[in-house]
Amino acid sequence: MRRKVIAGNWKMYKNRDEAISFIYEVSSQVPSKDQVETVICAPAVFLRDLVKREGEDLRIGAQNMYFEDQGAYTGEISADMLTSYGVEYVVLGHSERRGLFFETDELINKKTKQAIKKGITPIVCCGESLETREAGTTEAFVSKQIIAAYEGISKEEALKTIVAYEPIWAIGTGVTATSEQANDTIKMVRQTLASLYDQDAASQIRILYGGSVKPANVEELLAMSDIDGALIGGASLDPQSFITLAKAGLKS
Ligand code: 13P
Repeated sequence: MRRKVIAGNWKMYKNRDEAISFIYEVSSQVPSKDQVETVICAPAVFLRDLVKREGEDLRIGAQNMYFEDQGAYTGEISADMLTSYGVEYVVLGHSERRGLFFETDELINKKTKQAIKKGITPIVCCGESLETREAGTTEAFVSKQIIAAYEGISKEEALKTIVAYEPIWAIGTGVTATSEQANDTIKMVRQTLASLYDQDAASQIRILYGGSVKPANVEELLAMSDIDGALIGGASLDPQSFITLAKAGLKS
């Protein structure tokens, strides 16, 4: 049984006061962590303030990190910096990082390895563009992203990761993949993991869906056989909306 994960990705939204008051409002309202793993991935400057207030059931994650231990990497944040604040999750390889900040599969692989080594749970993102979907090459494209992200990672290490399938055409557009589309691609990601490791690993690794998830569609998505949770952008910004999304994790 894979425990559901409901993760918010705030991207570059909110100021400090808004971030803190969100955590105060939400942290006692989400389901127990034994039932649903609930995470907010916040901008790096807020991490310290939020981790202090996170509570047992609402955990705080980062949206990015660098793969080196330390060094002359202006503007970057290391895994040790994150763990020194108690950060337990990090989103890696989000399509916005790939597209706008030129992150490659190779870089994402290095970051994933570093997160695992340092005891941070990476939420490894994959997903195709509309062009790729229309060309009918989604499976090949997404499975190549997964193979690259997990290069040189053992089964034991892979079990410490979470995958997020986020079709780019569904992110921030209001267009959600249908639950069948999302489930089919996620099944394929699971098969790719089975081919890299084995069926046992593939059946344990949580794979989330992301892209215009909101209270109105979350239950249908989470009811699908292979969708183990959601990575949510816009609808994670409002406290009540996020509480509803987190509670939906209890129903499936
Ligand atoms: P939206 O939920 O705003 O479509 O964003 C999805 C996403 O990119 C989460 O990482």
